[in-house]
Parts: sequence; structure tokens; C-alpha cells
Amino acid sequence: MALWAGRFKKDMDGIVKEYNASIHFDNIMFNEDIEGSIAHVTMLEAVGIVTKTERDQIITGLEEIRQEIAEGRADFSSDDEDIHMAIESRLIEKIGDAGKKLHTARSRNDQCQVDARMYLKKKISEIARELLELEEIILKKADKYADCISVGFTHMQHAQPITIGFMFMAYFQMFRRDVERLTATYERMDYCPLGACALAGTTFPIDRGTTSELLGFRAPTENAMDSVSDRDYAIELLSNASISMMHLSRWAEEFVWWNSTEFSYIDIDDSYCTGSSIMPQKKNPDMAELIRGKCSRVYGDLFQLLALMKGTPLAYNKDFQEDKLGLFDAVETWRASVQIFSHMLDRTEFRMDEIQKFLDKGFLNATDVAEHLAQNGIPFREAHNIVGRMVQMAEEHGCQLEELDDTMLQEIDPRLNRDMVGDISIENCVNGRMSYGGTAPAEVRRQIDKGRRWLESLR
Ligand code: ARG
Repeated sequence: MALWAGRFKKDMDGIVKEYNASIHFDNIMFNEDIEGSIAHVTMLEAVGIVTKTERDQIITGLEEIRQEIAEGRADFSSDDEDIHMAIESRLIEKIGDAGKKLHTARSRNDQCQVDARMYLKKKISEIARELLELEEIILKKADKYADCISVGFTHMQHAQPITIGFMFMAYFQMFRRDVERLTATYERMDYCPLGACALAGTTFPIDRGTTSELLGFRAPTENAMDSVSDRDYAIELLSNASISMMHLSRWAEEFVWWNSTEFSYIDIDDSYCTGSSIMPQKKNPDMAELIRGKCSRVYGDLFQLLALMKGTPLAYNKDFQEDKLGLFDAVETWRASVQIFSHMLDRTEFRMDEIQKFLDKGFLNATDVAEHLAQNGIPFREAHNIVGRMVQMAEEHGCQLEELDDTMLQEIDPRLNRDMVGDISIENCVNGRMSYGGTAPAEVRRQIDKGRRWLESLR
């Protein structure tokens, strides 16, 4: 019979037991559940609700159960419903009457929330570490490729030349914001619901400050009903996960096409690729594709939780038990994806000889010509039109913009000559983009230095 069976004449139907149980997915929080119980009973003793002997018996019993579970000796069954009741039942079985006092001034409604917040705080720290490791690798690569020129795209069309270091630093900013969002979410989540009880607090003289402090929270939550019934912290975390997975997925997408035969921009280390069971020559960028794929799963997890919550009245509803699977799935998927991406990035080199072949395609320096003309007194809008015509002419002659001679230029506009066009070599175009946040190697080095200082400030 369940721990709550007092008012029932019959046991649950077998299939109801199965359907009702969350033990098969919430047992992942067993450590947090035991920590929470130890803090709770420590507080119960401190305020005189249980004796020292009872407290010590309970703590010893809980520690033994922790060992049993950690060593895989615990036998979780749907009879126990969830990890909270499984541990409490086992405790009573082990130590008898003292164990029956543990659940004084507590409900599973606050208990599952303490466990979830503690579990997620731990996962957040792991994910933050992975993101910072990724940032380290990005900085290292950005530095290495600070002077290496590649194609910058808009609409997937050749746009302007950029440095690879510059592109790396674009992603650096995205992941920096991911870290900052994660930190803010952690801070909002860092309040302890224990002692909220079922929904309305308790008549026992508990000390929520003590349990909060023992469990490493900043403070107890303010309102009991809110504490047991909202899941906004989880939705916020899943939003963070979705945004960060989107960043990873975009970069992963670039890896996939950079790795294609048509581009051949990069060489991903063999250890981060897979082969084909039929085509012997294949070396597929499966890790990048999987990150793109797993991103959709995390989005699904976010939407599931948003949908779960939207029609639920205050306070606790059993629907909430369904908050866990997707949440646990998402945080671990996110952590693993950042880790895999970091290592893949670290083991990827750019093939500058291949990239070089693309630099004279698509008139990457056209904007620079327009800027030079504008600097020589032609209003930019007019200069833009002139260069458009230069591009037409160069296409007709099958040549580059820098190969149009004075006669050709004057045919387009009598004011034009080679001197006005100036040095439009790809190197010069890149070196000249010194505006704050621009792609010039010197400017990218400033971005790298600033990024490094931020990383160091977090150590
Ligand atoms: N396993 C439950 C959950 O995760 C714990 C809370 C159950 N509370 C209740 N009153 N049935 O939501």
C-alpha cells in the first residue's frame, strides 16, 4: 500500500500504478532528495520537532539508502510512485518509527521542487563550465585565424571579405550571452521552496532560513503557493537551452556545408566524423548534423513545458509531474552538445588553400570600390550605382573590378579613373575595416583581448 493509503478501501489498479508513477524518471534526483531530507531533519531537530536520536537515526538511514542507490542495489518499483516516497518508504523499513517523522512539515509538492532546483543548479554549473570551455577554444582559434581571409556571406551569396577570426568572435558573443542568461536564470532559481509544504505553509514552527542555508540556496522562497505551483524557472532554463542550441545548430549547419565537397573549407578530424555502411569513401559530419537535430528536441521540450503549464490553476496539479522528462532531457542534451561541439571545433582546421580559390569570385571588393569613390567626393548612392555598372562590365569581360582600365572606367562615368578606385586587393579591403566591431585583424585582436578579459574575470 502507498504511504498515503489511509483513506482508501482499495489499492490502485495495476495499470493506474504504472501510469501514475514517476519513479522511473525522477530517480535521477535521488542525491538531491536525500540532501533535502537531511537538511529538513536537521532543522526539525533544531526547532525541537524531532529528538537528536531520531535525527541521527534518520540521517544514518538516509546515508545508507544513498549508498544503496548509488551502488545500484535499490530496486525501484512503481509501487513507490516517485523517488520521494521510495526513499521515505525504504527509510521507514530500515529504521522504523523515527523514519515516520521525516515527512513532518513537508509535502512532496515542495520536496519535488527543492530536488528539481538543486538538480538543475548542478546541471547549470556543468553547462556553464562547458560553455566557458567552448569560449576558450573559440578565442584560441580566433587568434590563430585572425589574419586569415575568407568569404563573408549574406543570403548565402558572396558579400564582403572577412577574417575567420572575426567570424569566430561573432560566435563568441553569442555564447557569452548564453552564459550571461544562464547566470541570471541560476540567480532567479536560487531560492528554496522547502517548507512551503502542500500549498499553504505549516503550523509547525519550522525555520525555512536554516534549510535554505543548509542546502546552499540564497534564501527561502517568499510565497508557499507560488513555490509549489510555478515552473517558470524551468521554462526559463529551457528557453536558455533553446537559444543556445540554436546558436550551436547554426554553426553546426555551417560546418556541414563547409565540409561539403563543393566548399571544402574545413577538415574535421576523423575522430569527429563517421563513415557510411555502403559508400566506402564517405566521411560524414554526423556530429554537426546531430547537434542540428538535437536542437529540435530541445525546442520540443520547451514547448511541451509551456503547453503543460498554460491551463493549470493554482496550486499543485498532477500534470506537473510531466515537467521532468523533457527538462532533464534538454539540460543533458544541451550540456553534451556544447561539449561535443567544442571538441569538434578544436579538432577542425580551415583549408586556406581551398578558401583562397573562392576569394576572386563574386566581387567581394565591390563595396570597397563604392566606399573609395565616396571618399573621393562621389555621393555614396551614386557611387553604389557606378560600381553596379562596373560589376556588369567586369562580368561581360570576365575580369575582376581591379582589372578595368581607365578607358573602361571612363565609359561608365567620366569622373572615374584607376586612382579613385584605389587599392582594392582583398587584404586591403579587410585591413581597412577598422571600425569598432569590424573585421580588420587589428580590430579582431581587440575583440579577442576583451573576450579574454571577460573569461578571466569569471575564473
Ligand atoms: N511526483 C510528484 C511530481 O513530480 C511529486 C508531487 C506529488 N504530489 C502529489 N500531491 N501527488 O509532481
